[in-house]
Amino acid sequence: MAKAPKVRYLCSECGVSHPKWVGQCTDCGAWNTLQEEAAPDTGAGRFAGYAGDALTRSVRCLSEVAPQQTQRIATGLGELDRVLGGGLVPGSVTLIGGDPGIGKSTLLIQAMALLAEQMPVLYVSGEESAEQISLRAQRLGLPGEKIQLLTETQVERIIDLARCHGPRALVLDSIQTFHAGDLQSAPGSVTQVRESAARLVRFAKQTGTSLFLVGHVTKEGALAGPRVLEHMVDTVLYFEGESGSPFRLVRAIKNRFGAVNELGVFAMTDKGLREVSNPSAIFLSLHEEQVPGSAILVTREGTRPLLVEVQALVDQSPLGNPRRVALGLEQNRLSMLLAVLHRHGGIGMYDQDVFLNVVGGVRVTEPAADLAVLLAVLSSFRDQPLHGDLVTLGEVGLAGEIRPVPSGQERLREAAKHGFRRAIVPAANAPRKPVEGLEVIPVRRLSEAIDAC
Ligand code: TYD
Ligand code: MG
Repeated sequence: MAKAPKVRYLCSECGVSHPKWVGQCTDCGAWNTLQEEAAPDTGAGRFAGYAGDALTRSVRCLSEVAPQQTQRIATGLGELDRVLGGGLVPGSVTLIGGDPGIGKSTLLIQAMALLAEQMPVLYVSGEESAEQISLRAQRLGLPGEKIQLLTETQVERIIDLARCHGPRALVLDSIQTFHAGDLQSAPGSVTQVRESAARLVRFAKQTGTSLFLVGHVTKEGALAGPRVLEHMVDTVLYFEGESGSPFRLVRAIKNRFGAVNELGVFAMTDKGLREVSNPSAIFLSLHEEQVPGSAILVTREGTRPLLVEVQALVDQSPLGNPRRVALGLEQNRLSMLLAVLHRHGGIGMYDQDVFLNVVGGVRVTEPAADLAVLLAVLSSFRDQPLHGDLVTLGEVGLAGEIRPVPSGQERLREAAKHGFRRAIVPAANAPRKPVEGLEVIPVRRLSEAIDAC
């Protein structure tokens, strides 16, 4: 009697394999994510060579290993180089995720056109036809002579062709459309995505080719396919942006070759993505005159100080449980700050709805925003605008103290550069040498900060 083919169930969230179908993944706890797959042969040697050749695998003392100077290749797109940590590293694998239509393919074809001037590049598309890509390149005014194009979805064939043509940079758009010929499951399934990516990563590492993988995102905004994809690659970049706004933010979530949370800012125009080299300007909503409830904050994204505007609206609440809504900031932190304001500033908001927003769709995750949040809330509550040339930074502690933030000096210089004249800063951040054109008001306690404005 013929044996029934073996099946297993893979979680599409975390990629863990289960022998039986269950409603909830026992590993990551996600519901209804298990998908049936044909169990692969557990033949030996499937992953042989993944960690490099035998020579590099011998045991050595750490001090004997000479660190390799990672040389970097400038892509010609300064903002992309910035999120990559200062340029493209040969042999690195970069995963770019983002909503459909946000500009992933546009960014990569632009970057490839620039890179093609220095080295051979190959753009593999499993999604669009060669004619579509050519049309886009033409519309963007990109020279097409040096970009090699391939429309193919089978990974082995792609790798064979890449070996043959020897590109130094390789784009795969998108990883969900590729499949390994020897696996049964459909393209886009967990096994296919994971296995295709593993083979491509191996190829990139063996040949020193820089690889870009485009990834789709799910409804929840996470990269579709198993999380293992994020572990396999060196760098994970996310495309963010609001529909209706031309601005596109590229954020490094993981980077083995640079700082995380580094931000690249682009604007989508009819000529493709344009770099925005002075992003502070777009995150300030330039009011004709000062309005209540607005405070300017100097935050830091990766290695770059950035001026953003925090807006608050405080309004009498008709509800027993007043609302606390924070967009671009953490909601729990807002509740905590309001409690500090009550306890240490003597100003209660228990009968007020508080709405908070960061202009321009940026997300601020660092506590340095605390003081700006409280000043914006207070300004709206009292219906008194803050000075138009005032910036703030500082973390607010539960004891009502104002705590210092990293790189205070650099942030103050950025504020002065944009024409701000006054800054309320934590006392520990007060610069020893005065910053030209900026009056610094050091504060130790929340009450001092409230008095200062
Ligand atoms: P695309 O790069 O195809 O998105 P993704 O690969 O992330 O799915 O971007 C397509 C969108 O960008 C589309 O909605 C139109 C817009 N766009 C422009 O506004 N200007 C341009 O020059 C190009 C090429 C696209
Ligand atoms: Mg695309």
